Amino acid sequence: MDSDISIHPDVAIVPMGLGHLRQVIDLGYQVFDTQTKPYTSWSLTSVAEHLDSAGRSCWVAVDSDRVVGFVLASMEFELREDWAYLEWIAVAPDMQGRGVAANLMTACCDLLFRHGAARIVTDVENHNTASASMMRKNGFTEGTTVTLFVRPNPDENVAGDDHVMLGPGTKRDLIRRGRITGEGRHGRTAR
Ligand SMILES: CC(C)(COP(=O)(O)OP(=O)(O)OC[C@H]1O[C@@H](n2cnc3c(N)ncnc32)[C@H](O)[C@@H]1OP(=O)(O)O)[C@@H](O)C(=O)NCCC(=O)NCCS
Repeated sequence: MDSDISIHPDVAIVPMGLGHLRQVIDLGYQVFDTQTKPYTSWSLTSVAEHLDSAGRSCWVAVDSDRVVGFVLASMEFELREDWAYLEWIAVAPDMQGRGVAANLMTACCDLLFRHGAARIVTDVENHNTASASMMRKNGFTEGTTVTLFVRPNPDENVAGDDHVMLGPGTKRDLIRRGRITGEGRHGRTAR
């Protein structure tokens, strides 16, 4: 059962609900570089799938009515039923460095372990030292490293995804798996 965890007179960690959706989406677009893996799959679909998941562990840090951080995780990691996946965590820039992420992690991981997770997996982009340090500090150790190798088409006239016509189902699936970016993005914001 999700329950409230209070950490500070001003900031509380509470289970994410539908009322937090808009602010969570906006905060994600503010802090994730959605041009770069693994952040390319940030979308309303990705957030909604976490909320819909029976084994979810989705939490927000709230300061009064303002969402200042969130973590989205679930008991769905590829084909492993006993592994959990912590896919998204973010804290508003003006609230970083105060332990908000650490408290989100505690609430999130505690619930995943109660759900029966034997392992919690997450992925961190190579240059994201803040996230890597935060994960290490919260009990994660480095596992397999995967590097994406990219070979562009030498024909400059081939622009890429813009020319591909995809059905809505295929598109949704590709967005979810991070193969293409979702629509309705607010543009890129530097971190
Ligand atoms: C990564 C992130 C969530 C950390 O949030 P935070 O609330 O600032 O983190 P905390 O204050 O709880 O810090 C916990 C630990 O993380 C590490 N850490 C956090 N920010 C750091 C930074 N900028 N540089 C190095 N280490 C950092 C430290 O070890 C810190 O512990 P300490 O303060 O005792 O040294 C935040 O920087 C963020 O939202 N970044 C952009 C989004 C992102 O990259 N998310 C992760 C990928 S999904």
